[in-house]
Amino acid sequence: MIRVLSVFGTRPEAIKMAPIVRALRAAPGEFESLICVTAQHRTMLDQVLEVFALKADVDLDLMVPGQTPAGIAAGILDRLPPLLRRVRPDVILVQGDTTTTFGAAFAAFLERVPTAHVEAGLRTGDRWQPFPEEMNRVLTTRIAAMHFAPTPAARDTLLGEGVPAGDVFLTGNTVIDALLQTVRTDYRFRTPSLAALDPLRRLVLVTTHRRESFGAPLRSICEAVRDLAGRFPELQFVLPVHPNPEVKRTVETLLCDLPGMHLVAPVDYLEFVHLMNRAHLVLTDSGGVQEEAPSLGKPVLVLREVTERPEGVAAGTAMVVGTDRDRIVGAASELLTSPDAYARMANAVNPYGDGRASERIVTALATRYA
Ligand code: UD1
Ligand code: UDP
Repeated sequence: MIRVLSVFGTRPEAIKMAPIVRALRAAPGEFESLICVTAQHRTMLDQVLEVFALKADVDLDLMVPGQTPAGIAAGILDRLPPLLRRVRPDVILVQGDTTTTFGAAFAAFLERVPTAHVEAGLRTGDRWQPFPEEMNRVLTTRIAAMHFAPTPAARDTLLGEGVPAGDVFLTGNTVIDALLQTVRTDYRFRTPSLAALDPLRRLVLVTTHRRESFGAPLRSICEAVRDLAGRFPELQFVLPVHPNPEVKRTVETLLCDLPGMHLVAPVDYLEFVHLMNRAHLVLTDSGGVQEEAPSLGKPVLVLREVTERPEGVAAGTAMVVGTDRDRIVGAASELLTSPDAYARMANAVNPYGDGRASERIVTALATRYA
């Protein structure tokens, strides 16, 4: 039996790890699958565990209000090594680019436990954007023994950095596995404010939470959304507000009490997938949403200066518009008023996978550690 310890802590990691954990459990006799959550996020993590009916074997319960990446990393380095010594996994699985991702990989390295990295090889090439995620990715690559690249470009990046070809696996992104396992046509919202949305009015979905945008760029994003709500009073805007206090304060100050604006608490993944499906247009600085929206044929304006996910841009469904108010308003207005411009972007393309990434990851693990 191959003992696999999956370590994750935030909402996006949980969503992208859930299909792998399911696939590991569907191959009994081959794997002993254990989950350790750092709970870098608490409520948003628990929402995902519930949607995918997962239960953590170990919960480090690290989140504290006002935490810093350094504080979370310190907690992981303190608490994970004793667990690794006790459990002795053959390999740990980490996903993505958060503090949990790098902290767990580094803790495993110190205990000489190999790390397999899911969603490896994404880069902007700028260590400050996204911050601190770009550095988390680079450092996790240096540590990992197996690298699961979601796209050919990510695989080529790893090979270009000198990662041995035998350690790199082109798998697709598990975000598509999760999406395909979740989306359905006959969905009804459970959150009262979403159930009350007018089905006949177009909906713009907005999410924002990047650390490098804190301060003036985040204010500029909010001002752009405010401006759009004023120009297009016939639209409905839905913005699930990220609970990071810095985000919450800015968004709530600048966007409360506007007609047509629905500021809601983070909704669970099931609700969010169907919000995307219902949306006419998506404005976001999220990594995961940039991958999901193209698969649903929803134009995405990326509220960042650079993206490590160029595939959606190349496919024509995503456009990088930065954080400048006028640029965001200009790009969104064009899509909202020009049917031709909208049609050019609203193609359902899916450059991120075929829904079988977890299966490939599990096969690669079985081959390496059997
Ligand atoms: C983290 C990740 C980021 C990822 C994002 C996904 C790092 C450095 N950043 O950023 O890559 O895109 O998660 O959302 O790892 N909070 C709650 N409840 C929750 C979750 C968060 O109240 O369920 C609040 C807490 O006050 C917490 C704060 O949000 O202190 C920040 O959480 P943290 O994980 O440190 O950073 P994020 O900005 O969420
Ligand atoms: N998401 C969710 N509820 C929300 C907002 C987003 O379930 O209210 C999901 C979304 O479908 C995607 C993931 O959370 O899979 C993205 O997480 P986030 O934007 O927090 O992080 P990132 O992907 O930028 O690291």
